[in-house]
Amino acid sequence: MSDIEINAVCKSFDGRKVLSDVTLSIRSGEFVAILGPSGCGKTTLLRLVAGFESPDRGTIALGGTTVAGVGREVPPEARDLGIVFQSYALWPHMTVAGNVGYRMKVAGVPVAERERRVAEALETVGLAGLGDRRPAALSGGQRQRVALARCLAARPSAVLLDEPLANLDVHLRASMEEEFARFHRATGATMFYITHDQAEAMALADRVAVMDRGRLMQFAAPAELYRCPANPMVAGFIGEGYVIEAEGFAPTGPERGEANLLGQRVPVRCARGTGARRNAWISLHPESLRPASDAEPGLSLRVLRTTYRGAFTRVEAAPDGHPARFSLNLPQHHPVRAGDSIRVTLDDGWVLPEAA
Ligand SMILES: Nc1ncnc2c1ncn2[C@@H]1O[C@H](COP(=O)(O)OP(=O)(O)OP(=O)(O)O)[C@@H](O)[C@H]1O
Ligand SMILES: [Mg+2]
Repeated sequence: MSDIEINAVCKSFDGRKVLSDVTLSIRSGEFVAILGPSGCGKTTLLRLVAGFESPDRGTIALGGTTVAGVGREVPPEARDLGIVFQSYALWPHMTVAGNVGYRMKVAGVPVAERERRVAEALETVGLAGLGDRRPAALSGGQRQRVALARCLAARPSAVLLDEPLANLDVHLRASMEEEFARFHRATGATMFYITHDQAEAMALADRVAVMDRGRLMQFAAPAELYRCPANPMVAGFIGEGYVIEAEGFAPTGPERGEANLLGQRVPVRCARGTGARRNAWISLHPESLRPASDAEPGLSLRVLRTTYRGAFTRVEAAPDGHPARFSLNLPQHHPVRAGDSIRVTLDDGWVLPEAA
């Protein structure tokens, strides 16, 4: 298995910077998702790792060997990578088995061994018995499984996937997510998985690299991205988060403090060593607020809009005469309508680090 070291990589196209100083250290066997809005440079980063593009500056190493940068350029076929594209990229004139075994055939793997590995790979992705079909006679999900089987059969030490589920419907996506998780467990391969779907990233990955406009914003485990975003971009991108300005932050413990929000002192979490400050941006999620009991102080908000979400109602609300906007979930047995006033308590908030 291979670790992937991306060090201070820059890339421009036609004088426009697409990747700025991206450094990412992926451990061998780790499942990493690259998450970010359209155009932020995800595919470009994958193409650099794969060897389809070369960096203007910086280096890339796979399994301890530098493959790009400092005057070195290892060709894609010599990088021991499997690649799975959104478009599957199967040969239409070959059978499923032919597609899965193609790389081994080119590499001169003996027929018997090849057939055994093809059968094994098809079995793993739940396509046993479909080896003689052509890709055209398969559903989208089955085609994506063939692409996975092809990858599996070649036994690469790292697999790069570029939005492999983007063409599939919601139900199929969920079952393919499981397929990827299984694939990862079965092979132990390092996974470099691009998506712009944060639920997918959070569900699958050990760590998620959030990118924005060619820069790495934060690289952390899903729970840390959710609980401790590094900056306003990550705070707003993950888990329907939003930020609210508070005043007079003062620490009360190593990773805790209090701030004034709408005239009330509220408890918040912060990074170790965060000092007192006049203004602080607090990152919240809809789950951070709940209706206040009669005994609690609570923030008074006016309901602006409600949206039915099945198990709960999403409520957008604001204090009268104040620009702040809050978003929270109310259970269905707590009916509210636009114009109602509600009192809520803050259960959890995170102070964005100063640099933000
Ligand atoms: N070969 C190229 N020549 C010129 N510009 C390019 C080239 N490849 C990518 N770009 C530009 O670089 C930027 C990043 O593109 P990239 O495909 O890496 O984004 P992405 O994060 O994968 O987006 P998406 O989620 O839409 O796939 C875009 O503005 C794109 O237009
Ligand atoms: Mg892309």
